[in-house]
Amino acid sequence: MIVPRGLLALVPAALLLPAAQATPLVYREESATATAAAPTTTVIHDWAAGWATGFPVHSSCNATLRTQLQQGLDEAITMAAHARDHLLRWGEDSPFVQKYFGKNSTAEAIGWYERIVAADKTGIWFRCDDPDQNCATQAGYGGHWRGSNATKETVICPLSFSTRRFLNSMCNLGYTVAGSPLNTFWATDLIHRFLHLPPIAEDVVGHAAEGYNDVLEVAKTSPTESVRDIHALQYFAADVYAYDIAAPGVGCTGEAAEEEEQTATSTTTATPSATSAAAKVRREPDTHSSSRNKYNVRS
Ligand SMILES: *[C@@H]1O[C@H](CO)[C@@H](O)[C@H](O)[C@H]1NC(C)=O
Ligand SMILES: *[C@@H]1O[C@H](CO)[C@@H](O)[C@H](O)[C@H]1NC(C)=O
Ligand SMILES: *[C@@H]1O[C@H](CO)[C@@H](O)[C@H](O)[C@H]1NC(C)=O
Repeated sequence: MIVPRGLLALVPAALLLPAAQATPLVYREESATATAAAPTTTVIHDWAAGWATGFPVHSSCNATLRTQLQQGLDEAITMAAHARDHLLRWGEDSPFVQKYFGKNSTAEAIGWYERIVAADKTGIWFRCDDPDQNCATQAGYGGHWRGSNATKETVICPLSFSTRRFLNSMCNLGYTVAGSPLNTFWATDLIHRFLHLPPIAEDVVGHAAEGYNDVLEVAKTSPTESVRDIHALQYFAADVYAYDIAAPGVGCTGEAAEEEEQTATSTTTATPSATSAAAKVRREPDTHSSSRNKYNVRS
């Protein structure tokens, strides 16, 4: 129906509505005289509409890559959920809590783990192509946050698929929490990647410590930073998962690698400039190079 603009006001409203919308009007007229007619329009406030709790895997991941990445994502959520639960059960009575987060409120750390588990993930993508050509050009990249190119997107490079371990090997194959790279497991690596995404970390979580020994030091001197430090959140999650779940009552904390101090240098390239100190910390390039440096805790 073509109606000149000026005449629109003269056309009965029902005629302008698509059939599906016009129908209730008719129905209401007919049922007006009927007794006990069901309400024709029930307005339901679906407060949770559109709540995406899982991390979306992009169509660039083929069937096999998707299977592997999805298991990694699931395990990362399992690990974050356990870290949250350990904090809820034990609070500051836990030696792990004191060790990684010092003496202060546990609520913030609980909140970051819970945001990983249940925050809305709409708009986030984990992708397997290489839109910024970092996988192709940067040796040792296991993946990277797309930064200013796409703040909600993370690229996972082929290297991750051939090197990251699943949690069923936790505490096996020589792994120790203190002595092995944080990106040994899909779960710990992906927790790191989650915490660079603004929809998860709300521009608050960042890097305050560099490596295992430094994390323990910051917990003693500046616990308010520990609860929003990516490495502290990763180490705590790995340590309590190992001790509570993988090897109950035993764990595999181990000891920090001696060369940690010397080798924990950045192997990453520049990313978008940041203004505030906090943003600088957060935006620190996190391209997750991995196997090149055995103790590359930043990666
Ligand atoms: C998916 O991509 C990987 C890496 O390119 C490739 O090795 C694998 O064969 C592909 N799988 C399918 C089902 O196409
Ligand atoms: C805990 O954090 C609060 C808020 O930053 C701070 O004022 C307080 O001194 C901290 N407590 C300890 C024991 O560090
Ligand atoms: C963003 O895209 C540009 C152009 O493709 C690329 O040079 C740059 O490395 C990308 N940034 C990141 C963080 O990958």
